[in-house]
Amino acid sequence: MKVVITGAHGKVGRAATRAMLEAGHDVLATDLTRPLFDRDPEGAARYQMADLTDAGEAFAVIRGADAVVHAAAIPEPTRNPAHVVFRTNLMATFNVLEAAVRFGVKRFVNISSETVPGFFFPEREFLPDYAPVDELHPMRPQDPYALSKYFGEQLMTAAVERSDIRCISIRPSWVQNEENYELNLGPQVRDASELSANLWTYVDVYDLADAIVLATESDLPGHEVFYIASPDNVGGRDFANILHQYYGDQIELRALSRPDASGISCDKAYRLLKWRPTRSWRDYLDLNGKALVRD
Ligand SMILES: NC(=O)c1ccc[n+]([C@@H]2O[C@H](COP(=O)([O-])OP(=O)(O)OC[C@H]3O[C@@H](n4cnc5c(N)ncnc54)[C@H](O)[C@@H]3O)[C@@H](O)[C@H]2O)c1
Repeated sequence: MKVVITGAHGKVGRAATRAMLEAGHDVLATDLTRPLFDRDPEGAARYQMADLTDAGEAFAVIRGADAVVHAAAIPEPTRNPAHVVFRTNLMATFNVLEAAVRFGVKRFVNISSETVPGFFFPEREFLPDYAPVDELHPMRPQDPYALSKYFGEQLMTAAVERSDIRCISIRPSWVQNEENYELNLGPQVRDASELSANLWTYVDVYDLADAIVLATESDLPGHEVFYIASPDNVGGRDFANILHQYYGDQIELRALSRPDASGISCDKAYRLLKWRPTRSWRDYLDLNGKALVRD
């Protein structure tokens, strides 16, 4: 397939581009980064620079695609003004999807976020109703990032109602690669009292990239939403114990697939995408949260 990957120079986009090329697809990568005007390295994806908040630029890069992976966004709400986060994420998603609908693109993979239910960056704090959180958890977004992702998912639902496009929204947990496992997860591996809104959950970027390829190749109709998180929790602790220790009875505990389960359930992705994550923080960090020395 001809697959356009937006946000291709970002953390998720780089891994998705590599995995998509390895799966044999023809990839057009796009991002805000200036192009290089040298010969492309052998096997590299073609690249075009585009600001996707501009509809004309979005239409120009999407034309001719069989499938789109939309990963371009500002990936959290606290480091840019609120309206910039909201406008960038919502308008980029609107423009890329609008172009995909008008050009008859068959599959759209929308990279949404685990933050959509709202308890990650709230102005008035609240906890999940239950854990592991799944796709049926109520949505109560407050911040501009979660709202932009929530509305993005609604744009997907509208698109499958008004056209033949098929959409999948992926809600990744906090994405980790070899460059940031130690920085991001090290403190929590050492000490479970380093609480995070996602209940000690993360996702390995290469497992996420595999899920993105599966979603792109999937023939599921309509619009489906999938959480994508690594199966174990950060630190590999007994989940029922730490949930009770740090949250008492405030969060209802539901069935766990393993004692060291994460705070997010990916059962739906295992069932419908046949996603099989194979990586863990343990491949990168020791039990003190320090990076493993590699050969
Ligand atoms: N990093 C995480 O932990 C995480 C977790 C859940 C969801 N996500 C989502 O995954 C996607 C990728 O996130 P990431 O971590 O790779 O972020 P990133 O910042 O590394 O990459 C995002 C890319 O989008 C590009 N971009 C931003 N605005 C653009 C615009 N107007 N036009 C074109 N490109 C634009 C940026 O240049 C950047 O390269 C985002 O949609 C993000 O919301 C990320």
